[in-house]
Amino acid sequence: MRVAMIGAGYVGLVSGACFADFGHAVGCIDKYPGRIDALRRGEIPIFEPGLLDMVSTNVRMGRLSFEADLTEPVRGADVVFIAVGTPSRRGDGFADLSYVYRAAREIAAAMRGYTVVTIKSTVPVGTGDEVERIIAETRPDADFAVVSNPEFLREGAAISDFKRPDRIIIGTDDARAEAVMSELYRPLFLNRAPVLVTSRRTAELTKYAANAFLATKIAFINEIADLCEQVGADVQEVARGMGLDNRIGSKFLHAGPGYGGSCFPKDTLALIKTAQDWGSPMRIVETVTAVNDQRKRAMARKVVGACGGSVRGKTIAVFGLAFKPNTDDVREAPSLSIIMSLQDGGARVRAYDPQGTTQARALLEDVAFASSPYECVEDADALVIVTEWNEFRALDLPRIRDLMRNAVLVDLRNIYRCKDVQDAGFIYASVGRPTPWSAPNAAHSGAASEPRRRGGGLAQLAAAGAP
Ligand SMILES: NC(=O)c1ccc[n+]([C@@H]2O[C@H](COP(=O)([O-])OP(=O)(O)OC[C@H]3O[C@@H](n4cnc5c(N)ncnc54)[C@H](O)[C@@H]3O)[C@@H](O)[C@H]2O)c1
Repeated sequence: MRVAMIGAGYVGLVSGACFADFGHAVGCIDKYPGRIDALRRGEIPIFEPGLLDMVSTNVRMGRLSFEADLTEPVRGADVVFIAVGTPSRRGDGFADLSYVYRAAREIAAAMRGYTVVTIKSTVPVGTGDEVERIIAETRPDADFAVVSNPEFLREGAAISDFKRPDRIIIGTDDARAEAVMSELYRPLFLNRAPVLVTSRRTAELTKYAANAFLATKIAFINEIADLCEQVGADVQEVARGMGLDNRIGSKFLHAGPGYGGSCFPKDTLALIKTAQDWGSPMRIVETVTAVNDQRKRAMARKVVGACGGSVRGKTIAVFGLAFKPNTDDVREAPSLSIIMSLQDGGARVRAYDPQGTTQARALLEDVAFASSPYECVEDADALVIVTEWNEFRALDLPRIRDLMRNAVLVDLRNIYRCKDVQDAGFIYASVGRPTPWSAPNAAHSGAASEPRRRGGGLAQLAAAGAP
């Protein structure tokens, strides 16, 4: 089949390369200055494991090409994907759909014959209706269908997610479009990927519901982590105990510095706005976003606490800038807020990330960027692990300790065992685990607090008949 992919970013480039790998002929189009030239030279503008190989192979086989102008690829296409960005709109937080609508107008002008226009970008419910209206208005003679096909890939594991998806959602009521989409994804049907054909609006909303639910899980376990620190419990064991329950599942129950990235923050906000517009507010998600926003500065306060109450004049080494491992994407990364809060407190920040430095450099001021973890910690007063890249999991701790001015390690991803780090001579703080900075709240621990606990929560629960 012939496919045109509008937008060659994280989603468009990965999806385009994977469709080409299935054997389809794919033209990827992008307007970002220099992006198409770079792709034609064989350079991949983003870091995604395995993508370079897949793109090179499919270009060589003549199945994947790159264009700055969409006219030719769209003219011959059976399916045109819209995979452009839908960032938060400045001011009101609603999804900025201007790129989607512009793409729709351009597609309308170029398409010939029956064309399935498929929205892969994450868009608020009802956007498909508006895209349909725009195309019909621009080209009253056009023969087309607009389908919603939300993408669920995760950066860092995007190729395997695309090729082995948990599900494929096709939102359309048009039988002809459903047949075209089924043929496009046929290689995955053979892998028995579950396919859900729904109405377009259902498909659009499913994507937001899924992301908001995952964000809720993260915010929930982070609040449990805070409580663990107060009562002297271990959040990792709590999460394991919860996650082994099949109804809950263990994924997205890792306490940390809060969610970031190009999806959860903007998608939760857009869902909140959509729900408000439809008079059906999502109060749980509203709370999740507020909890998550506060968490990032709270993590900076944790660092300040570990440094004895002030970071003024101190050098803080930060490991990890990307919002998660195996990507260079720093959009809405917790590292950005944490670094800026530490700078507000008078700290000098030196940072290291295996892939995210170039993107972070554009967003941060007065940060020194190191080219290795060991260079980053030289004479530092504290080390903060913000992103759990594999290369941070097995650091030479004695070497790090000897390079630092003060051996303070704040592990916001709980990648180390408390005892190992303390044995290596560090003052160690982590998230939701009993450490010197997360000691049980004195007012509630020990004999003095027993009567209060019995007289309070437990007695009330017993009175209420709780098990
Ligand atoms: N990144 C993810 O992990 C992920 C996962 C699932 C869904 N999504 C959704 O997919 C969409 C794209 O996300 P992304 O991370 O790939 O964004 P991105 O910013 O990496 O890429 C978008 C690309 O679209 C290009 N573009 C914009 N308007 C264009 C036009 N008219 N013609 C041609 N190119 C155009 C931009 O230049 C940019 O390169 C968003 O709606 C996002 O929410 C993203």
